[in-house]
Amino acid sequence: MSSNIGVMGHPIGHTKSPVFQQAGLDELGIEETFEAWDVAPEDLEEKVATFRASGFLAGCVTLPHKQAVIPMVDELTEAAEAVGAVNWIFNRDGKLVGHNTDGSGFLRALKEKAGFDPKGADAVVFGAGGAARAIVYALKGAGVNRLTIANRTVEKAQALASDFSEGRFKPNAIDMSRDSLSNHVPYATLLVNTTSLGMAGGPAELATPVTAEMISADAVGYDAVYAPPMTKFLREVEEAGGEPAGGITMLVFQGIEGFEMATGQKAPVDTMFAAIEKALKEG
Ligand code: ATR
Repeated sequence: MSSNIGVMGHPIGHTKSPVFQQAGLDELGIEETFEAWDVAPEDLEEKVATFRASGFLAGCVTLPHKQAVIPMVDELTEAAEAVGAVNWIFNRDGKLVGHNTDGSGFLRALKEKAGFDPKGADAVVFGAGGAARAIVYALKGAGVNRLTIANRTVEKAQALASDFSEGRFKPNAIDMSRDSLSNHVPYATLLVNTTSLGMAGGPAELATPVTAEMISADAVGYDAVYAPPMTKFLREVEEAGGEPAGGITMLVFQGIEGFEMATGQKAPVDTMFAAIEKALKEG
């Protein structure tokens, strides 16, 4: 018999979620096992249907299912609708609610781990994929003053900017050329990398969207890439005198937000971080 909470993806072998989620459940004395379910796309509908069972709490959703599950739930929250992806499904008396905590997890990571409140800030987001979408949604909600989306393919930055333009809030969309970046990056107090530049094992591990001389010493630089923990981009932020902040915190806080909604209790944040940090150290 399956447990009442877990994460599903395909493949799922490398997920770190059970480590910190289980630590949270244990600390609160909740007798559940946080499982990892390898669910192939053709088995997804059948798996999601099991989430309606009485007593089932929640399923965390990871790649490649975050969009595919949308038609399989009964209701989407405003965040899931805006981000266009579901990373948690909650069972509310047999009704499945699809939600997205990537954006709110990012904001909590920024506030609780980097001590930065983006309200009124000038921000630049590098990238225009799925992670950028969640972060742009979050920054808009948090009340940033000015937002620039910089992407190699400028059309994708323009589409993202236009999706979130509303009233006085109109993100700029630029390409990643030095010229374009130099008009925005030096004035930003928040820089967020969501591109795959700097990712371990990728084709551009030693690359960065921007270098130190363009970065303000007052800037916080957040990298959604979490392996390696200190990317080239974060080293450039540090060299500029800014504050580097790492991506594992976004991953853990998206899980913590889901944990709190699934259990209805405040998560033991320190215990959950201690568990993931220990696991990462042990490799
Ligand atoms: P995610 O869901 O993690 O955001 P994604 O949707 O594949 O991933 O988005 C990857 C992002 O990294 C995109 O913004 C991509 O730019 P393009 O839209 O131009 O493809 C960016 N990216 C990937 N490789 C890059 C590179 N070598 N230089 C600059 N940007 C790159």
